[in-house]
Amino acid sequence: MVPWIRKYLPKTTKDIIGQSSSITHMKNFIKNFKQLKKKALLIYGPSGSGKTSSVYAISNEMNLEILEVNASDFRNKDLIDKTIGQSSKQQSLFMKEKLILVDEVDGLSGTKDRGGIQAIAKIIQNTSFPIICTATNPYEQKLSGLRSKCELVGLNELTYLNIFEKLKEICEKEKVKFEEIDLKSLSRRAAGDLRAAINDLQSLVSDGELKKEDVRELSERDKTETIIDALVRVFKIKDAKVASAAFDNVDEDFDQRFLWLDANLPKEYTRPEDLVRAYDALSKADVYRGRIRRWQHWRFLVYVNCLLTAGVATAKDGKYKEFVKYAPTMRLLKIWQANMKYQKRKAIAAKIAEKTHSSVKDAIKNTLPYMQVMMQKDKGMKTNLAEFFDLDKEEVAWMVK
Ligand SMILES: Nc1ncnc2c1ncn2[C@@H]1O[C@H](COP(=O)(O)OP(=O)(O)O)[C@@H](O)[C@H]1O
Ligand SMILES: [Mg+2]
Repeated sequence: MVPWIRKYLPKTTKDIIGQSSSITHMKNFIKNFKQLKKKALLIYGPSGSGKTSSVYAISNEMNLEILEVNASDFRNKDLIDKTIGQSSKQQSLFMKEKLILVDEVDGLSGTKDRGGIQAIAKIIQNTSFPIICTATNPYEQKLSGLRSKCELVGLNELTYLNIFEKLKEICEKEKVKFEEIDLKSLSRRAAGDLRAAINDLQSLVSDGELKKEDVRELSERDKTETIIDALVRVFKIKDAKVASAAFDNVDEDFDQRFLWLDANLPKEYTRPEDLVRAYDALSKADVYRGRIRRWQHWRFLVYVNCLLTAGVATAKDGKYKEFVKYAPTMRLLKIWQANMKYQKRKAIAAKIAEKTHSSVKDAIKNTLPYMQVMMQKDKGMKTNLAEFFDLDKEEVAWMVK
């Protein structure tokens, strides 16, 4: 099977999404190369934004031959003279202009490549061919010598709509059945990386279809990964300020965060004193959580977050260096889910009890089951009862489930 990232490689610059001004900049650089002072471009941008494919698309369009070399190749003077020197002779034979591409100059590491980067910087000064380098982060220390010799061109981080557009086009060409909402969710997940998005899409499509469950499962996996990152921050770091931002990117609600912390804390904090202090922070957080629930004191949320993060982080005397595999405990999760279900039932029963002047217990036992049956059987009854007892959407859904 052909990887779609290869199959849908942009052939001309028209196929490149979201980078038109940088493309123009690159084309002008090649056209005006002879008159320019700076003989190289440093194209930078996030992974999967189109750095490499832009260079290839432009060279197709302008009928250039690309010579792709590694940064470390530049240390080898013979090789450089051979490739660049020889190609200058070939130029007259094939009448094709050359373009030198040094892809991912920042990707290589170590002293070997450092030497290579210095060598490119030198060659740029008297090259007779346009040189284009690419990097994800052009401001890295090791690129400083190169940076000053190049003109910098930044590619945009692709928006999720940019990505959605491309995925949709691919689905249509591949005759894949999909729902827009799922493609959008994949597009958002890619966080600007079109290569990753196309790969995800290809790996999820089966039997000519993008299945909802598969997209959902992937996003569940992401959620788990972000919560694990958050746990690492809370457990491994002692700095209160850094720790307090741990859950900033986590979507899961406070109940879920409690469960994860609670379940994994004893695996991480093996010194009893640390454990005691950490659980103390958790239990204080739990008290505030209870007050929020009961009295809707939302300002306590700040305290809950502080105790969960900084509270737990600073509870340890020293850092724990061992690697710990964090996991949600299914048992706790099940209890919690059952509790939530029970709470919904209790909340509904409380509303019934109030209107019928009976006790909550009574309502659960006698009224609620009948109401459930009636609401499930009759749509009109469903709306009427929901209105009469002032049930919200979730409660109605629970009743007819
Ligand atoms: N701006 C873009 N327009 C169209 N396709 C793109 C774009 N960016 C990336 N792609 C797709 O993603 C893949 C990887 O792109 P590439 O140019 O290698 O990214 P980079 O070099 O920035 O990491 C390509 O196969 C291409 O299909
Ligand atoms: Mg690339």
